[in-house]
Amino acid sequence: MQKIAVLTSGGDAPGMNACIRAIVLTAEHFGIQVIGYKHGYNGLLEQEYQVLKASNVSNIIQRGGTILRSARCLNFKSDVSAKLAAKNLNALGIEALLVIGGDGSFHGVCHLAAHWQGQVIGLPGTIDNDIFGTDATIGYFTAIETALESIDKVRDTADAFERIFLVEVMGRHAGFIGLSAALASASDHVLVPELCGDLNVELDNIVLRLNASMQKRGNSSFIIIVAENLWPGGVTNLAQVLHEKTNLECRPVILGHVQRGGSPVSQDRILATKLGAYAVEQAMAGKSQIMVGEQNNKVVAYPIELTWQQRKPLDPYLVEIQQDFFDISKITQA
Ligand code: F6P
Repeated sequence: MQKIAVLTSGGDAPGMNACIRAIVLTAEHFGIQVIGYKHGYNGLLEQEYQVLKASNVSNIIQRGGTILRSARCLNFKSDVSAKLAAKNLNALGIEALLVIGGDGSFHGVCHLAAHWQGQVIGLPGTIDNDIFGTDATIGYFTAIETALESIDKVRDTADAFERIFLVEVMGRHAGFIGLSAALASASDHVLVPELCGDLNVELDNIVLRLNASMQKRGNSSFIIIVAENLWPGGVTNLAQVLHEKTNLECRPVILGHVQRGGSPVSQDRILATKLGAYAVEQAMAGKSQIMVGEQNNKVVAYPIELTWQQRKPLDPYLVEIQQDFFDISKITQA
């Protein structure tokens, strides 16, 4: 193998740079040249690229974002685009394309594979952690830390005013960041899609829990973590609804894109380094249409189309702990 390419696509995630670095250093070790496409799949369509050498990836392991830039490329869904990408890859003599991204980017990988003879490999890079086949995705650990740091600060002011705060975290349609951040910040309630049923029942549960907490602790802060895209109108609307139900002061906080930024924590840097190196080795072994991931601390190669065909579950033990700590049925009986 002489030449491979890499691109970052979709929502950027802390650790993507660490992953690019590992790909370049591993490839260089085996005498393989690396082309870095810019702006996700757009770079592939427009032949916007640069040769990546060790000197291009020094001093980037600690940086958030991606030196290759990222983008969502809806245009890539068409056959015309995939054929153009195949032509461009062939023109540069690229044998394998490595794509660091999430679910949407992996669909792009498979779409390209239908039109290109070269090898395609996905590397899971998203703060959402919603990719089946890998225990964690690159960027997820840092996003939890970032959310946690903010929630701890919200707790300070919430305590000072004995107020209710609703903190909205990212995750697209998955509750990984929400559940982890809620547990680690000892938040009083969490609403994530995997654990939420009827929203009216959820609202009644929040009120029950709030009343129980006030009976036990008197006036005090109360933090509710809410996953994005869950409550119609988001936390701003939920704060209003809750205020109308309880007559208590409720403040919404939307953490937003801050969760995508920052220097990656060590877990993300190490995961990114492992997966970057492993992806190059898998390319050299002739593998294609796989995602490289990690399961039980071991690197694995997983068929890429299976990564979105099953929904990755939340850690059932974490869910159990969260539910035991805040058991609604016990509150109702009390
Ligand atoms: O997939 C990563 C993510 O940050 C999600 O958590 C969020 O829903 C989405 O991207 C936001 O996308 P955009 O940056 O396009 O607003």
